[in-house]
Amino acid sequence: MIRVEVDLAERSYPIFIGTGLLRDATVIARAVKSKQVLLVTNDRVDPLYGPTLETALADRRLHKVVLPDGEAHKTLDSLYLIMTALLEARFDRSCTVVALGGGVVGDVAGFAAACYQRGVNFVQIPTTLLAQVDSAVGGKTAVNHPLGKNMIGAFHQPSAVIADLDTLHTLPPREFTAGLAEVIKYGLIRDREFFDWLESNLDKLLARDIAALSHAIRRSCENKAAVVGADEHESGERALLNLGHTFGHAIEHAQGYGNWLHGEAVGAGICMAARLSTRLGTIAPTTRDRIIRLVAKTGLPTEPPSTNSPESLLDAMSVDKKNRDGRIRLVLLDAIGHASLRDDYDPEALRAVLSPGADPLAA
Ligand code: NAD
Ligand code: GLY
Repeated sequence: MIRVEVDLAERSYPIFIGTGLLRDATVIARAVKSKQVLLVTNDRVDPLYGPTLETALADRRLHKVVLPDGEAHKTLDSLYLIMTALLEARFDRSCTVVALGGGVVGDVAGFAAACYQRGVNFVQIPTTLLAQVDSAVGGKTAVNHPLGKNMIGAFHQPSAVIADLDTLHTLPPREFTAGLAEVIKYGLIRDREFFDWLESNLDKLLARDIAALSHAIRRSCENKAAVVGADEHESGERALLNLGHTFGHAIEHAQGYGNWLHGEAVGAGICMAARLSTRLGTIAPTTRDRIIRLVAKTGLPTEPPSTNSPESLLDAMSVDKKNRDGRIRLVLLDAIGHASLRDDYDPEALRAVLSPGADPLAA
């Protein structure tokens, strides 16, 4: 088992990465310390992994909430269901909310843990690649509002994260590929060596080779832990984790939540950020093409959808937590392994990259 530490003084916590962890009662007991436990999962993950975890938690006062599956249920209604379950169970402040599932379950359950009695313990057991490399780590919790994604939420760190690689075997290929967008992101914003490794090892990753997965998840978590440890509340460096996300959130919003997967939208968003960076003159066209080729090789989209006008995407991008004084601030690339938050781009260049077919790859 690999252990990566998120260093946040008294709120520091471990990320356990390995195989067989869900059925390892010792690992579960190290992570979940309360007697009162609310397990939050969804109707897709529950039949796959709920019983295994429930066995490992058999000595607790265990209650369970099974949410309907999907981004469309990352809502205040789901939060309300969890609150009701906590109150009906008469759980007190010593309880732990355990999220078993992907980023949607983790974000909603984490927000519930942040709100219930002004904050209770929270443990993340991510079962998608995206959640294992990104959403389960760092304490961002949220639900969506019809007017904007993740607009209602809180920072609430988990007390432990358990990433069991075995759960990735049942993940549908489209969901697995979506997670690779966030993996590539770390290479681009701060880890050139990791980007090079991804270029050389993508085939193994796509085949879900355990050694390759362990390395990719470990490097991703180490990068995320370093960023979160330095800037927990996103006053600076943490915003760089949003490479491709302002574009991506706009695509998700404009297409209707759940139609494009989050990771798919981020994949296209990374390519749009690379194109805009080249138009701004900070990365060469050859670097831009190298990035787009890696994204394309994973099977992720590299272009925005043709069904949304640049105006509708711009409108959605104007509702973003990074924006200041009406300016859309974007994470753009200075090199592979280096990014910055900028608003000094030409608005016409931004408009251009919001349409499919801008800057086709050189032959
Ligand atoms: P998801 O939670 O919707 O999971 C994807 C699908 O896979 C779902 O249908 C789910 O039920 C299913 N699933 C989960 N685990 C499975 C398994 N092991 N086997 C088979 N099916 C499984 O989506 P996601 O990609 O994990 O997460 C996306 C969400 O995460 C978005 O809402 C996004 O905004 C959020 N997010 C949050 C952060 C953060 O820092 N909090 C970071 C990135 C993304
Ligand atoms: N996924 C972006 C962040 O955690 O800050």
